[in-house]
Amino acid sequence: MAEIIREGNLFHLRNERISYILRVMPENALAHIYFGRRLNRLNPDPVLRSVGSGDTYNFTLQECGLDRLPQEYPSFGLGDQREGALRVENADGSEAADLRFVSAVIEKGKPALEGLPATFGENAQTLRVLLKDQQSNLQAELLYTVFDDCDAIARSVKLTNGSLADLRVTCAMSLCLDLPDDRWDLITLSGSWARERSVYRRPLTPGHQGVSTRCGASSLQQSPFLALARRETTEDAGEAVGAALVYSGNFTADAAVYQNSAARLLLGLNDREFSWLLSSGESFQTPEAVLVYSTEGLGGMSRAFHSLWEKHLLPRKWVGAHRPVLLNSWEAAYFDFDEEKLVSIAQSAAEAGVELFVMDDGWFGHRNDDTTSLGDWQVDKTKLPGGLGRLADRVRALGLKFGLWMEPEMVSPDSDLYRAHPDWAIHIPGRAGITSRHQLTLDMSRKDVQDFVVQSVSDTLKASRAVYLKWDMNRNFSNIGSSALPPEQQRELPHRYILGLYSVMERLVKAFPDVLFEGCSSGGGRFDPGMLYYVPQFWCSDNTDALSRCQIQYGTTFFLPPSAMGSHVSAVPNHQTGRVTPIETRFAVALGGCFGYELDPRKLTEDERSAMVAQVKYAQDTEETRARGSLYRLLSPFECNDTAWISVSGDQAEAVFTFVRAQTLANRAPALVKLRGLKADAKYRVEETGETYFGDELMYSGLLCPVKQGDAASLLYTLKAVEE
Ligand code: GLA
Repeated sequence: MAEIIREGNLFHLRNERISYILRVMPENALAHIYFGRRLNRLNPDPVLRSVGSGDTYNFTLQECGLDRLPQEYPSFGLGDQREGALRVENADGSEAADLRFVSAVIEKGKPALEGLPATFGENAQTLRVLLKDQQSNLQAELLYTVFDDCDAIARSVKLTNGSLADLRVTCAMSLCLDLPDDRWDLITLSGSWARERSVYRRPLTPGHQGVSTRCGASSLQQSPFLALARRETTEDAGEAVGAALVYSGNFTADAAVYQNSAARLLLGLNDREFSWLLSSGESFQTPEAVLVYSTEGLGGMSRAFHSLWEKHLLPRKWVGAHRPVLLNSWEAAYFDFDEEKLVSIAQSAAEAGVELFVMDDGWFGHRNDDTTSLGDWQVDKTKLPGGLGRLADRVRALGLKFGLWMEPEMVSPDSDLYRAHPDWAIHIPGRAGITSRHQLTLDMSRKDVQDFVVQSVSDTLKASRAVYLKWDMNRNFSNIGSSALPPEQQRELPHRYILGLYSVMERLVKAFPDVLFEGCSSGGGRFDPGMLYYVPQFWCSDNTDALSRCQIQYGTTFFLPPSAMGSHVSAVPNHQTGRVTPIETRFAVALGGCFGYELDPRKLTEDERSAMVAQVKYAQDTEETRARGSLYRLLSPFECNDTAWISVSGDQAEAVFTFVRAQTLANRAPALVKLRGLKADAKYRVEETGETYFGDELMYSGLLCPVKQGDAASLLYTLKAVEE
């Protein structure tokens, strides 16, 4: 049960496993006291003294200052020399915002955030804290939610300009977390196109460390996530704190160490790329940030995130619902197709048991390569003479569902749309700017652009009666300017773009409640909790090579759920790496996420085709366990030659275990891999070998993994609890 206890000036948010404590100090500064394992109660003095900020009763701002006080929402320019969470430019040119506690309210449930994706749920308690700068009348409402069933605290801030003068917000973080010590490692996820989310771990050191993006999206290069793990924390044991931003645009995630070894985490909108004119009486809502806490190592932290997103963020309709096994035409045909070819690919897919056929890029305008036609969402009649309707009907006649690809936020300079509305693209008048992948970004901050996007997507969905849409976004911002904003608001564009995107997504998911939207951004370039509020799955990476995917998927699961991770079996040699891997390994790895195919099934050998039929069936049979079970990462591809993970069903009666050995080794005895998440006293049969073991044998001694010789060898085992 989640509860919020108020004891005098102390607020204690907790459930059965975690506590979060804040305190109003004598001069109404709001101090952070604790986040971690559940406590019965806490005397705040030791924490405050340990960072040199005096004690609760004798604290004065004059004597102790703000510089050492652990704070909930620190600002700049008033004596705290650390990086702050809030910076404003007041009418008098000063940057101070002296926020002091005014009042607090406790309420049941989790409020929505206007215009932004956020966690939701009835089984939660929320604390609203009102802070105010008495001189400028700027108000900050801090929201904190604790959930019954997840070890997470959701936070956000709403600023309101209560003065008669305009002011400018130049930094508004969603989260600040002050910690009394720096004995942590920082973990972030970084990479690039086709190498998303590698895991980087290093000790916190004095000064700043962290990640940020300015490309307009949460990005391929970084993720809106960071974790702190004790030096001794492993995958299975030890303290870990995770922080994630429910946002899809420019962000900053910073961890800093200051005097007395106190650490501060900040997470929110990237303030270097941001400012916001807050006129008198107006409000600004920050995105939501989420903190999770685990004593079960990094694995426990990840499972806390997974469970939070599944229970409190992902679209309700798709949580727990079957996701069709799909075949996507991209790597099968690229731009080179016509109706007959697609129908023939679809027929072959249908014969193998595939449930959904997805036509990727190349069906509209005159798009035979990536140089043209984005924005002209009219079907290319030379390729599809019967239009979307006839193709979709023919696909459906094969017993398949029909889905398709769009990149609605983009425009090609060579398009009728651009010729008609050059000002709809993000640009700075008079500057040539650059295209990337021969395309420009539509200015999603504009209402007319939003309406156009909603209209084109709606028309396409209606014309095809598609039940699935792959929503792509393939370029970074450049030449950042909007013809719809006055000069003093140009720096609002990146955030207004994301608000526009969310508003469009909201309209479309409401208008098409039965359509399964899959996100994509050159692969996993905008795979973040913000998008997961609208789309229940996201194409994890354009890299479909099985060994690369071991790393990409391992890192992705640090904070994103396997059920949302689009993952497909593709052809060999792999189109991104040139590597040849066995089909069973490509299959085993693709099963780690939301399963499908990205190949031309007509080109498979007879053996591969019969393997495919069995694979589809296996994927369907084990979906419940893989998608909704608990994930335990067992061996890290960042640390050794092997990768292993296991998904265990909620009742611990079934598990799917995967082991991949990247490079074959001569004279190497098979690995013994310790499993996790099973019932120690239950007996399990490995379906593929018929062997039975007790859970404790498998977890504490290990399961032998005798893979074949050859690179990228793998094992896929199904474990089932048996009676005797
Ligand atoms: C991006 C996507 C791919 C594919 C292509 C089509 O790169 O990530 O999956 O859809 O666009 O152009």
